[in-house]
Amino acid sequence: MINNKNETNTHIQISPLARPRRLRVSPWIRNMVSEHRVTVNDLIWPVFIQEGNNLRTPIASMPGVERLSIDLLTLAVKEARDLGIPAIALFPATPTNLKTQDGEEAFNPENLVCRTIRAIKSAVPDIGIICDVALDPYTSHGQDGLVRNGIVVNDETVEVLCKQSVVQARAGCDVIAPSDMMDGRVGAIRKALDNSGFSHVAILSYAAKYASAFYGPFRDAVGSADNLGKSDKKTYQMDPSNSSEALREVALDIAEGADMIMVKPGMPYLDVVARVKDAFKVPTFAYQVSGEYAMLCAAAANGWLDREKVILESLLSFKRAGADGVLTYFALEAAKLLKAQ
Ligand code: PBG
Repeated sequence: MINNKNETNTHIQISPLARPRRLRVSPWIRNMVSEHRVTVNDLIWPVFIQEGNNLRTPIASMPGVERLSIDLLTLAVKEARDLGIPAIALFPATPTNLKTQDGEEAFNPENLVCRTIRAIKSAVPDIGIICDVALDPYTSHGQDGLVRNGIVVNDETVEVLCKQSVVQARAGCDVIAPSDMMDGRVGAIRKALDNSGFSHVAILSYAAKYASAFYGPFRDAVGSADNLGKSDKKTYQMDPSNSSEALREVALDIAEGADMIMVKPGMPYLDVVARVKDAFKVPTFAYQVSGEYAMLCAAAANGWLDREKVILESLLSFKRAGADGVLTYFALEAAKLLKAQ
């Protein structure tokens, strides 16, 4: 019996002052109190380029993603621009015969990336172009740097990365994104860009980039998996067990002149995104990498997950963690989903 003076009340009474469910009762109020939102402005689209004309090559481990020749890529980039996607990130699949021990093709002004930048800048001038700086698409051993006596050497690599950056800036790249994890490269690249008249070109540094197994499908896409073989990148990319070290890496890159920083991979490293954003308050991006894309696609293809819902929920998780934007292979699809909402 409730409220009977003569009996002890044995019912559990729930009458909290705060009832969070009051703010969840209907869509309008959920929308009104929502803290984070994904918009098309948050999306950066990484794309893979190949030589040739009118060519598209599917990437088996990344269903729905294709390597495109420059002409087809230009059309796809127009679509991205029309959807409102602010920027793309370019990744070349270099023909095997152009890969060398020291990756000289990286600073050839006529290489695939530079020709692509020029083509896109003339056909779609109002989309941002971000270019990776690292040697792995160009080296016969698949490492991001120069190898001397079995060691990926730092300072000599940085000199080449500077040349690669300047060549890409000269072709019209808007944002240089060093993904190589050599020490001191951001400062050196900043100086090289400034000395060559590119002080307006920004640097988005892959500041906290981990030695991750989630990059597997990407290495298939750019064709560096076979080159790398059984080797790994653990002497320069970060140990997945560390997170305070990410703060140190980010601090160094900001001090050296990075305009924006990135954490990579994405979803398994949202704790790092949150710590970094909290500590530095600089524009912070996260990369939902190829393996994350592959996982979601595989589960959706099996009917185990609702594809559209998990795409949007995964992107929202980045925003909630503090990211200002996300590099994602879902960019085009997500932009369409957001538009339809
Ligand atoms: C190259 C580079 C990699 C990725 C982006 N730039 C691969 C690597 O470091 O081995 C991975 C992106 C992805 O997995 O989607 N340095």
